[in-house]
Amino acid sequence: MRSVFTALTAIGLMIGAAAAANAEPITIKFSHVVADTTPKGVGALHFKACAEEKLGDKVNVEVYPNSQLFNDDNVLEAMLLGDVQLAAPSLSKFNKYTKKLDIFDLPFLFNDLEAAEKFQKSEAGQALLSSMEDKGIKGLGYLHNGMKQLSANKPLRVPADAAGLKFRIQSSDVLAAQFEALGAVPVKKPFSEVFMLLQTNAIDGAENPWSNIFTQKFFEVQKYITESNHGLLDYLLVTSAEFWNGLPDDIRPVLDDCIAESTKAANDSALSIAMEQRQKIIDSGSSEVLQLTPEEKAQWREAMKPVWAKFQDNIGADLIEAAQAANN
Ligand code: LMR
Repeated sequence: MRSVFTALTAIGLMIGAAAAANAEPITIKFSHVVADTTPKGVGALHFKACAEEKLGDKVNVEVYPNSQLFNDDNVLEAMLLGDVQLAAPSLSKFNKYTKKLDIFDLPFLFNDLEAAEKFQKSEAGQALLSSMEDKGIKGLGYLHNGMKQLSANKPLRVPADAAGLKFRIQSSDVLAAQFEALGAVPVKKPFSEVFMLLQTNAIDGAENPWSNIFTQKFFEVQKYITESNHGLLDYLLVTSAEFWNGLPDDIRPVLDDCIAESTKAANDSALSIAMEQRQKIIDSGSSEVLQLTPEEKAQWREAMKPVWAKFQDNIGADLIEAAQAANN
C-alpha cells in the first residue's frame, strides 16, 4: 500500500513540475506616455530587464511608451479592468481616486527634487502609496521627473506676463487654480496633444520639466522657457491591488525587488537627465532659457500662494506641514 502511495505521490509531483514548466508566462504590460529616454522611460525598461533576468520565462514584461497603448486619461481604468498591469501617471492625475495627492501640485511646495524625495521617503509620504487601495489601486513607489518650467512664445518674467494666455495643464484642479491665480486660462489636455496644440497656437504656453520639454520637442515650438522651478512633476507607479496580491508567492517578492531597484535607478538619474536635456535645449538655440532674479521669483511665489488655502482642507494642513519640513 505504502509503495502505491509513494508511486502516486511521485507521479503527482512530476505532473505538477511539468505543469509548472509549461505554465504560461505572466504578462505584465507597462503603459506610459513619455519617451524611453526620460527618467520614467528609463525606469520602465530597467524594470523589464530586472524582472526578465530574475524570473526568466515566468514573466513577460511589455513596455509601451509614448501613449502607444493608453493615455493617462484612460490608463487607470484599463488597469482596473486588467488590460494593463503597471502605469505611472503623474501625481497630478489621480484626483478622481484621491484628493490627498493634490499636495504634490501645490506651487512652490518643494524647493527642489531632493526635498520632494525626502518627503516621499518619509512616513507621511509612504502612507500616501496606499491612499487609493479602497479603489483597487496600489501604489508601488514614486518616480521622479523633475521640477517644472514655464514656456510660452513671449518672455514670462513676472506673473503679469502670463495674464490672458492659454496654458495647457494636466487634469488637475490645483494646476487650474494655479494658472487662474495668474489671470491666465488653464486648458486641460492629454500630454499626447501638447506639441500639436503649441505648434498650431491653439494654446500659448505650458508647464513641463526639462525632460518632457526636450523629448517631446516643445522647445521647438516655444520661443521662451522661464526657469521657474515652480512645481513638481513626479509619478506614482501603480498596479491593480487585485493583480499584485494575486501574484504567486515566488514571483511577487522578486517583482517587488525589481520595482525598488528600477525606481532607484530612475530616481538617481533624474536630475542628471534633466540637466543634460536642459543643456541640449540651450545649445539648440531654438528657445531662449530665461533666468529669474530672486525678486522676480518671489513675485511668482506670491501670485500663486492663494492656491494653497483653496486646497488645504482637502489635502490636510498636517500633510502640507510635513511636506514643507522636507525643505529643511
Ligand atoms: C503631462 O501630462 O504633462 C505629464 O504627466 C506627462 C508625463 O508623464 O510626464
